Amino acid sequence: MIQIKDVTLKDVDAMIVPVFEEQLSESEILTQLSKSKVFMGREEEVFVLPTTEDGLKYTLYMGVGTKETFTTEGFRKSIAKAIKEAKKLKVNTVGISICVSDKLCVGGNVKSITEAALLANYTFDKYQNKEIDKETLTIYLCGVPEAKLKRANEVLEEAKHIADGVILARDLTNEPSNVIYPETLAQKVVEMGQEIGLEVEVMDEKQIAELGMKAFLAVGASSEKQPRLIVMRHMGDSESDEILGLVGKGLTYDTGGYSLKPSDSMKTMHSDMGGAAAVIGAMYAIAKNEVKKNIIAVVAACENVISAGSYKPGDIISSMAGKTIEIGNTDAEGRLTLADAVTYSIEKEKVTKIIDVATLTGAVLVALGTSTTGVITNDTDFYEELVKVSEKTGEKFWRLPSTKEYAKLNKSTVADLKNVGGRNAGTITAGLFIGEFVQDLPWMHLDIAGTSWADSSEGYLSKGGTGVPVRSLYALVAAPCPCHHKDTK
Ligand code: BES
Ligand code: MG
Ligand code: ZN
Repeated sequence: MIQIKDVTLKDVDAMIVPVFEEQLSESEILTQLSKSKVFMGREEEVFVLPTTEDGLKYTLYMGVGTKETFTTEGFRKSIAKAIKEAKKLKVNTVGISICVSDKLCVGGNVKSITEAALLANYTFDKYQNKEIDKETLTIYLCGVPEAKLKRANEVLEEAKHIADGVILARDLTNEPSNVIYPETLAQKVVEMGQEIGLEVEVMDEKQIAELGMKAFLAVGASSEKQPRLIVMRHMGDSESDEILGLVGKGLTYDTGGYSLKPSDSMKTMHSDMGGAAAVIGAMYAIAKNEVKKNIIAVVAACENVISAGSYKPGDIISSMAGKTIEIGNTDAEGRLTLADAVTYSIEKEKVTKIIDVATLTGAVLVALGTSTTGVITNDTDFYEELVKVSEKTGEKFWRLPSTKEYAKLNKSTVADLKNVGGRNAGTITAGLFIGEFVQDLPWMHLDIAGTSWADSSEGYLSKGGTGVPVRSLYALVAAPCPCHHKDTK
């Protein structure tokens, strides 16, 4: 729980006090601490000072670096550290003072503190029976000037909904495949839609076949868990014909199929629906905040497993667009489901722009690691919009080249396309395979195989699903902060 209210150490168990390096000389205790190099006010540095005047209470000095080098992302990380420290101290109520500067306005403070605090507080521990602290933390945001209270409360509500969208995405990603499979994923989305008033339509195997989604079905046929096509529609601007299509890879499990993965690479493959989770989380935030744009999200949910009905290397399959595909490797299944999901979005939902989000290649981990999402796009202006929001959200993106030399690698000698472009440039060829189906619409492909999952807790991310890039998808469609403070990187 988080709300705007001025509190002091009299009212709460702990106070988090942001400290710029420039402020170290402003109090006796900070002067002494910095002299002895115990606390220097650096980003992500937290010093806990207990007091016993009113019972056991704590002041948490939270370093935020220098005014010159301050960034919103650094601030979010510092908040996360302080919140994690507060949790260790088993406190129930904590106040945080906002930290306004020419780099971050009051609204920016409320937004970044709310998101960072709620996300840092997240854990996925529902299956653990052992006694763990499930106490809830109540957070009070202090120092909001009277005149800005109304706007700050609006920003608070918006930020809470965004954080809830990220948390929804994390939960869906963390749930194992025996709990979340196409049917139950669809069920969850239907329930979410009913709760917040978002239109959701689910199509079963028969309807998917009637639509001619042959590539999607070829993958889905491998499992006794039947595929589902999940469509979410948020039409917030009746005056516009523009519709942004969000397409999320929804493999609720990926064994690789007959091109079987080694068991070590397989064990987290319940998270191969991280793209679906991200677009579902983004739609939650978009609908809940009543964003005045038209956005339609599509998830082709299925499992890639081994059975008598599985597709096999060497098969030649068709697709909703009519293009034929030679199967070089059954583990390159995501692009097949996405090709049909993209075609469906264009043909049936009439989207005018597309972003697909997918845990598509191990190669993107080799290229960019776990901090940066790989991007393939046919539209530089569209990509620039993403770069701009990324400076605010702190989620990182990097564009890879996609010239025609790479597209050639997806050509087959027996069909129109093949689903593997060879060992080289794996992230690019995978992205460009989807690009074959976007019919010249402005399109971005986000490969989140590296960024959607964290092996350990870090900053405001926790181990497991990260919910990346929910916040950037939201920021791309929502109105920016009306305040003219300097954007920080
Ligand atoms: N779901 C995987 C990609 C993946 C790898 C996601 C690691 C998260 C972490 C995808 O379906 C896959 O298996 N891709 C293959 C493609 C290859 C066969 C061309 C890969 O990356 O090895
Ligand atoms: Mg695969
Ligand atoms: Zn996969």
